[in-house]
Amino acid sequence: MRPVYLDNNATTRTDPDVVAAMLPYFSDQFGNASSTHAFGADVAEAVKAARRALAALIGAAFDHEVVFTSGGTESDNAALLSALEAGEAEGRSEIVTTRVEHQAVLAPAAHLEKTRGVKVHYIGVDDAGRLDIDAYRAALGPCTALASVMWANNETGTLFPVAALAEMAKAAGALFHTDAVQAVGKVPMEVKATAIDMLSLSGHKLHGPKGIGALYVKKGVKFRPLIRGGHQERGRRGGTENVPAIVGLGKAAELALAHLADEGTRVRGLRDRLEQGLLQRIEGCRVNGDGENRLPNTANLAFDFLDGEAILNRLDRAGIAASTGSACTSGSTEPSHVLKAMNLPARALNGALRLSLSRENSGADVDRVLEALPGIVAALREMSPAWQARQPEGAVHG
Ligand SMILES: Cc1ncc(COP(=O)(O)O)c(C=O)c1O
Repeated sequence: MRPVYLDNNATTRTDPDVVAAMLPYFSDQFGNASSTHAFGADVAEAVKAARRALAALIGAAFDHEVVFTSGGTESDNAALLSALEAGEAEGRSEIVTTRVEHQAVLAPAAHLEKTRGVKVHYIGVDDAGRLDIDAYRAALGPCTALASVMWANNETGTLFPVAALAEMAKAAGALFHTDAVQAVGKVPMEVKATAIDMLSLSGHKLHGPKGIGALYVKKGVKFRPLIRGGHQERGRRGGTENVPAIVGLGKAAELALAHLADEGTRVRGLRDRLEQGLLQRIEGCRVNGDGENRLPNTANLAFDFLDGEAILNRLDRAGIAASTGSACTSGSTEPSHVLKAMNLPARALNGALRLSLSRENSGADVDRVLEALPGIVAALREMSPAWQARQPEGAVHG
């Protein structure tokens, strides 16, 4: 049976056109972009075109606001450290972020707390994953160096009002960074029309290659490089450019922009049919995340009294690839920090399943899940003493 891939928030298939665009840069076009001879000049031109394509996708004002990095994780680390170093010169040493960020933000923030005594404010969310805006506003102040809030959550797809949050940070004199790794290529962006100072993105989430990403740094924002070395990327990221990957990311950006409007609508339709179909067919099941403001491709469901890993295993055997949440924590039995922050009831916390679509999915993929999943849930519940002993929701005890 044809495998069904519904784990596109973990990674996407590299588009064949992206692979084709990259290939010459592994062979004939092997020059170093910094060389002044013809071998270098051709390659430098290709890097320039990729930068332009990426700037167009996110709506940057200037191509040179795009700094190529090794991926989302490096971009997030670079943004946090840079803002802190720039802020310290002005007596600003605090970071405001959220409890539901990816580890690529949470881990460097925790490291800065531990090693440099940086005060980090972790803002909470409500049960739909929406940020506590009052708490965010209250945490911003004269000591804030940086506010970092993701554009879209990788587990639930919930979208954050980053443009408004960036304005609030600006009013407090702080920089604003957004981890837009899950949002770029899935929602329209016009970053130049916002007060966002830095934005992280990653190639492999938008049908580009792995190990390549970028950090948008608004013109005029003071930037301290994380990786020091040669003068590549205007001194903002040392190291010989990964040209094939940069070219691939440029092609992926071009394709994402071309597909954005049509595919966004089509994928949303598939996702909604999937969710509605599962809610209708399966008892004790909920959709996690903001119903209104959500990525079009992400469905996060929780099944009462079940273990998400067990569901995943059975889906995998049925040829369907999904996830329990973020890939970086899969395999661990700890419930997701995102769902915990959303205060999901205990009976649902371990039974989460993330189905994330892309432009490569079809209605037939949705049908496959609708056929397979209800039976899997029913079979697992047969073996779940907690399910058997459950009290109907809202039942009066005693
Ligand atoms: C929201 C978010 N930020 C950062 C990352 C890390 O990106 P990369 O894999 O390119 O390092 C991911 C990847 O899962 C992500 O979902």
